[in-house]
This record gives sequence, structure tokens and C-alpha cells, in this order.
Amino acid sequence: MRKFEVVFQPDGVVAQIGPGTTILDAALSVGIHIEGPCGGKGTCHKCKVTVKGGVSEPSSMETQHLSRQEIDVGYRLACQAEVTGDAIVHVPLATRLTAQKILDHGVRIDVPPTANVKKYPLKLTRPSLEDQRSDFERIRDTMSEGGVSTVSLDVLRRIPGLLRGNDFHITAVVLGDELVDVERGDTSNANYGIAFDIGTTTLVGYLVDLVTGTQTGVSATMNPQSAYGDDVISRISFVTEHKDGLERLHSKVIDAINGMIDDLCQQGEIDPNNIYEVTVAGNTCMHHLFLGIDPRNIGPSPFVPVVSEPMCVQAKELGLQINPRGRVYTLPNVAGYVGADIVGGILATRLWESNRIKLLIDIGTNGELVLGSRDGLIACSTAAGPAFEGARISCGMRAAPGAIDRVALDGDVVYTTVGDIKPRGICGSGLLDIAAEMLRTGVLDPTGRMMDETSLKDLSGPIRERIDRSEDGLRFLLVKGEETEQGHPVYITQKDIRELQLAKGAIFTGIQLLKKELALDDDDLSEVLLAGAFGNYLNKHSALKVGLLPPVGADRVRSVGNAAGEGARMALISTEERKKAEEIAKRVQYIELSGRKDFMENFAENMLFPVS
Ligand code: FES
Repeated sequence: MRKFEVVFQPDGVVAQIGPGTTILDAALSVGIHIEGPCGGKGTCHKCKVTVKGGVSEPSSMETQHLSRQEIDVGYRLACQAEVTGDAIVHVPLATRLTAQKILDHGVRIDVPPTANVKKYPLKLTRPSLEDQRSDFERIRDTMSEGGVSTVSLDVLRRIPGLLRGNDFHITAVVLGDELVDVERGDTSNANYGIAFDIGTTTLVGYLVDLVTGTQTGVSATMNPQSAYGDDVISRISFVTEHKDGLERLHSKVIDAINGMIDDLCQQGEIDPNNIYEVTVAGNTCMHHLFLGIDPRNIGPSPFVPVVSEPMCVQAKELGLQINPRGRVYTLPNVAGYVGADIVGGILATRLWESNRIKLLIDIGTNGELVLGSRDGLIACSTAAGPAFEGARISCGMRAAPGAIDRVALDGDVVYTTVGDIKPRGICGSGLLDIAAEMLRTGVLDPTGRMMDETSLKDLSGPIRERIDRSEDGLRFLLVKGEETEQGHPVYITQKDIRELQLAKGAIFTGIQLLKKELALDDDDLSEVLLAGAFGNYLNKHSALKVGLLPPVGADRVRSVGNAAGEGARMALISTEERKKAEEIAKRVQYIELSGRKDFMENFAENMLFPVS
């Protein structure tokens, strides 16, 4: 097939591409990651690039989302424009998938190391006419503790040469009750594992010394699947709409994880062959994509996963570059939208053994909620939409460098940005802050309606003057164009506020229905635990002000960081904790909210802001 040359600027990278390939796929093929929150549907217009040369005519989505002027100067949507000849593509900074602030720490509970992987240095007696035991029997009998009942053919084949070539001095590597490897001499101190949190947006890995239980490295990166859609639903759509969609998403995450393994090995100065086990926590869709399992039935009702049970598979089956005889353990899922990440979070926060009622909230594009104590746990998932991830917000962006992450109205607008650089847009925590401040100052009324300048006489001039009317309605000028990185002003529009109300209304309603199931009041909540990146970076006072959280008082709200990753780490270090995770998944009662009449009844009311 004829190939065309597509040059990506300013990188200067060249892709050799067949006709009909989208610019987005061409970019991905040479490692250039472009924003693609809508998963290539042409609706988010975040993948804007300029193209010169052989490219298809603008699609209907492009003519809808790009102005005539933009099209005339060569702007195209990378997910829509197809290569028809040699071309030069310029990918602006704003279009690139930039690394966001990644949360790589969380509540830390020290558990005694009782890892599933054990290494036994052995000095075996040599065989003789008086002692004709088999090599395997000899190894098994010499181990002072632990039982080995199985061994693979692959390992058996290595044993005779290794024993005799090393004076019968070897180290047996035992995983559970299986002899998974034999190594020369005494390598018992080189015993490592990695715990991964596979999030929809970010990946975090913790390298752990399995002898001592100490963490010796952390690696974090963006989930490269983000180029195929920001949320779980768009990833599932990608799988259903592309014949090779599952394979592509699976290999993307495996490649990224292998990169992290490499990074962790360099940090710890260790050999990847000394990594024997990996544990994984992720939402149910990420869990399936990691394992290469088709997640399509999680998408539509009745939202059925292929598997919820914990899985233990060979690392080489997944192509993970650790010891080829190593294993991968995935924590169990609860349901299609309450996954192993939540099980990890429950484990790490000790919610399952708490004698007081607590609420655990993990907010992403779905709000995953767990309520209860040691007497019982109940969970649900509610579609919050992508507002808190900065998507569908006119000047929204992820919590990447340049995102406005804190805002106050103090005489005028005061803000900070991620990375302390010029603003590029606003992320979820900034959106929450500005909404809370607009409510406090009366710029928003409790219905979420933005007031015009004339009805805000008491407000300081500099704030009042920031309100103006565009053809889409009222908007609030957060940052003037001359202060931003790209020279474009950052606005908060009436529509942005509505998106926020939809998101917070869905989460608040989910909380309300869980409380109703257990016949609890807000006073019964001893603590509200916020898991995940958004929960960690948000201002809890703002979250309470806008009614995202139940009105419990800020002293009862606590961030627990990357609780999913912490749960995966605990399950790696301790077989006891692993059993507890499996028990938790069985004990959590899942409540399906979709189609519930009381959800819709309460949702509209919960979109309103609290009157303080
Ligand atoms: S419009 Fe191209 S990825 Fe959304």
C-alpha cells in the first residue's frame, strides 16, 4: 500500500502512513499524544491542529466546531482529518496531552510483610546411591518452611543444569505453593514486587522490597489511552467501534506499564528478573483493558463485567517485562462501575473495620461512593460527567501545568496555577473554588443563575466589571487574555456553572440515596473520606459551599490520597491484606442507581446550591 509522509511540527517527527489514517492515529503512531477527550467523535474540539498538504475535506463535525476562518488558515480536528497525501501538521501546545499533577501517595498503613513471593536460599546435599531423590524432591525437602506442591515444566527443565552448575547452591523462588524459579547462589535479598493503580487518566506504580515491605520507588505517568477518550464510556465506545480497539487500548496500557517497570528498576537499581509479582487496582473497565478482556458489556445496562473475582495470571501472558515466570494479581471488582480501585480504597482506609459510619468518595467522571462501617458497606456509582476533570467546561483543562487550581474573590480575582506558570485554563478544583466564591459574593444565586453587573451594586468594582454578556449568555472573566499563556482570556460561563451543577447534583444524590438505604442522617457520618486526585486537591470548604458534599463541617472531611494505589500496595506486601480485599469485595452491597425513580426526583433539587 502507498504510504504518505506526515511531518509533525515543532517536533520534526515523521510518520509513514497509509491513506485514510486520521491525523490523530498518525500522531499516536510516532508517540505524539494529542488531547482526545471525546474519543475521536469530533465533539470536544480539543484536538485542533493545523495541516498543510494532503488531507481530506473537512467533515461535518469540523465545519460545525471550527469557524470558517479557522478552516481557511488550515485548522483541522486531528480525529476527523484523514491523510490523503504528504502533509505537515503543527500540533500546538494546548492540543498536546500534557502530564497532569499525578497523585502518587495516600493514607499509609504499615502492614507486616507476608508477601506471596518467598525466596529460599538452599544448599542441597548431592545425590548418591544412598540418596536417589529427584531434584525437585530434594529442593522441596530442603526447604525448612513453606510448602511447594507444584512446579511448571519450564522450571523443571532448568533445575538439573542449574543445580549441577552451581554446586547445588541455589535459591528457590516460591509464589504461593508453586516453585516459579530457581536462581544461582543466594539471591534471597533480591525479592521485589510492584503495585499498580491503573486509573482512567493516570497510572501509578510502587516498587516494593518484598523482604522488608518497604517502598523503594514510585513511578507515575498519564494513561496513554486518554488519547482515545477521557472517560470509561469513550474507551468502551472505542473498543466497540474499532475492530482492533481492544488490542490497541490493551497494548497502550501494557507499553506504558512496561515503561514504568523500566523506570522503577532504574530507580531501585534492580534487575527486572527480580520482580516476581505485580498487583493491580483499577476501575472495572481499566481492569478489563489491562487484562485484554472486552469491556463492552460494562457500558450499556445492565452494566455487566466479564469477571469480578480476583485474577492471578502469568506476567508473560500480558507481556509484562518482569521475571517471565512472575505473576499478576488483580484485586476483585464489585460491579461494572464499582471496581477494584474502590476495593483497594476500602482496604486502605480501614472502612471495612471501622466502628463508626464513614463515607468514602472517589470523584472522577464517575463518582464512586461507599458508605458504612464494619457492620456493613453499601456502594454505588453515579455519572458525574467530566466537569471536575475540566472537560465540557469552556476554558476547562486537566490539572496540568497552567491550570488554575485555586481561586478567591478578594477585592478582585486571586488565583494560583499548577506549576506556577501563566494560566492556560481552569481545572476541577479551580472551578469548584470560583463557583463557591461566586455564590459567596452573590454573583451566583442558589439556582446557579449568574447575576448581571447592574444587580451587583455592593460588589467591588473590579469583580463586578468582570461580568459581561456574550451571545451565549452571561460570563465571568477570570483571567484577561494578556495574562494567559496563549493570549486567550479564561471565562466562566453560565453553561460551565450548569455543568458543575449537574456533576455535583449527581454525586450529592448518590450520597443521599446511600444514606436513605441505611436510614442514616448527616449527623451519623463520623467522617467523609475523599479519595483520588480530585478529592486530594479540592478545597473542602468550596466543596461544602457548593453542596458537593453533605453538610458535615470541614473538620469531618479528610483527603486520603491515592487510596486505590495504597490498597494495591498492601495486597502486594501482605497475603492477609489480600484475603481481606477479597472478603471486602464480597461484603460490599452494590446499589444500582440508574432507572431509580427517587434518583431523578432528588437530582433536580440537588443541582441547586445550598442556601447559607
Ligand atoms: S474532537 Fe477530536 S478528539 Fe474530540
